[in-house]
Amino acid sequence: VGQNLIKLSAVDSTNNFLKMMLSKSEPLPEGTVIMADNQYAGRGQQENTWHAEPGLNLTISILLKPSFLSINRQFMLNIAVSNGIGKALKALVETGITVKWPNDLYHYDRKIGGVLIENSISGSVIKSSIVGIGLNVNQKRFDPFQVKTAVSLSEILQEDVNLLSLLSEICGHIEAQYLKLKSNNDVSLHEDYITSLYKFGRPALYRQNGETFEGKIVDVTAQGLMVIDVNGVNRAYNFKEVEFLSD
Ligand code: BTN
Repeated sequence: VGQNLIKLSAVDSTNNFLKMMLSKSEPLPEGTVIMADNQYAGRGQQENTWHAEPGLNLTISILLKPSFLSINRQFMLNIAVSNGIGKALKALVETGITVKWPNDLYHYDRKIGGVLIENSISGSVIKSSIVGIGLNVNQKRFDPFQVKTAVSLSEILQEDVNLLSLLSEICGHIEAQYLKLKSNNDVSLHEDYITSLYKFGRPALYRQNGETFEGKIVDVTAQGLMVIDVNGVNRAYNFKEVEFLSD
């Protein structure tokens, strides 16, 4: 991962760019990375936008071709990617790095980055996967509505971080996790994911359809459902069905 690096000075979205390249040009090698200095229309989960000040942050898309991955196992790719980024961040930041379900990167209660994976499916397997990653790296100022919820690596470390060395760390760790996925080592992937999971096993407030309740995350299933123990009864939630309240 990362051997073939395509650097762009400006683009709407690296995910869009990679998708466009896949539909047009000759086949790109697996592990190709698109990196943009300025991504001016970045996309996030749930139709959100992803804002990143030009030149200061990591906005990349990685091309994977997990043709070994059946669609009922596709959440394991999210787990592998989140684990990889989490491990790269933990190598720089000693405490407080977690993965928030399904695949946000957190430092204590603030978001440091996010992942947007777009799979193209052929039959019952994943033909190609565009793994978009946005990380707040050297940005010092956030919009007023983000100030309490976003943080950057340089704010945590009190020094700037070289984007290309960070990229290479992330690629290395993602590759290692991807190889686990390839060898069906789901048990180890799941274990690493749960070990770093934000609010795992701790009482916290959640909201579903306007109802607020307290519960503890007890698991995330292989299909990506988050299981919360509410007064001794386990409830399993799909992405979008439940909100974390205290952040
Ligand atoms: C999220 O937290 O909602 C996911 C954010 C993903 C942002 C990255 S930045 C690079 C890639 N290109 C995009 O348009 N989005 C992803």
